[in-house]
Amino acid sequence: MRLVKSSFRVWSYVVIIWFLCDSEALFKFTNIKCICYEKSFCELKRCELKVLGRGIVGLFLHAQANQLPINTTSCVLTLFRRFNGYKPFLYNVTVDICSFLKNRKRHPFFNLVYDGIRNFSNINHTCPFNHDIIVHRMVLNDNMMVKVPVPNGFYKLKFNMKTDGVWRGEVEVHVEVNLGFDR
Ligand SMILES: *[C@@H]1O[C@H](CO)[C@@H](O)[C@H](O)[C@H]1NC(C)=O
Ligand SMILES: *[C@@H]1O[C@H](CO)[C@@H](O)[C@H](O)[C@H]1NC(C)=O
Ligand SMILES: *[C@@H]1O[C@H](CO)[C@@H](O)[C@H](O)[C@H]1NC(C)=O
Ligand SMILES: *[C@@H]1O[C@H](CO)[C@@H](O)[C@H](O)[C@H]1NC(C)=O
Repeated sequence: MRLVKSSFRVWSYVVIIWFLCDSEALFKFTNIKCICYEKSFCELKRCELKVLGRGIVGLFLHAQANQLPINTTSCVLTLFRRFNGYKPFLYNVTVDICSFLKNRKRHPFFNLVYDGIRNFSNINHTCPFNHDIIVHRMVLNDNMMVKVPVPNGFYKLKFNMKTDGVWRGEVEVHVEVNLGFDR
């Protein structure tokens, strides 16, 4: 009887710790969706989130490029916030990626997002691109959160890619922001 009781206590302890750790994750991925419109241009080898540890979610993306080199590319990046479905929120920017990579100051919001991605990806150089696009084990950290002053909630970042005037594909990443308090 005693044993049962104390093991129950241990379990609630574990559950509470888990819960606390989880709620400390201010900023985490909750979903990802990728689409390549034309196989002749790109194929998805990987597009997934994986739990790497308690409250830590890693993002993995591998888009195989079937038409190289990529000399010019542009991207429409739109932020959505969930509120009776996802609604556009604050940012919708169109960025010429190749000129952005030469001068990143012109697109502050895109630069913040790029800063979060570049350490984990092989797109950390200027054009042209002569290889597949890979993002490996990308994690979010609280420092990024400090720079993006958005309220608690559920967000979706949508990347729409275009090269040579043709839409090539899209990536949607869902992110939960939970500061543990409102701001
Ligand atoms: C990209 O640039 C290279 C040389 O810089 C050129 O050989 C190639 O044809 C270009 N590709 C496209 C699709 O414009
Ligand atoms: C974002 O901007 C692009 C390019 O100007 C436009 O085509 C698109 O409809 C806009 N999206 C939203 C949700 O406003
Ligand atoms: C990326 O790497 C640099 C150099 O190691 C580091 O200073 C920076 O904080 C890293 N950024 C992220 C978002 O991890
Ligand atoms: C880009 O990232 C790779 C690792 O993914 C690293 O080896 C390389 O030094 C980085 N290049 C730049 C210019 O930051």
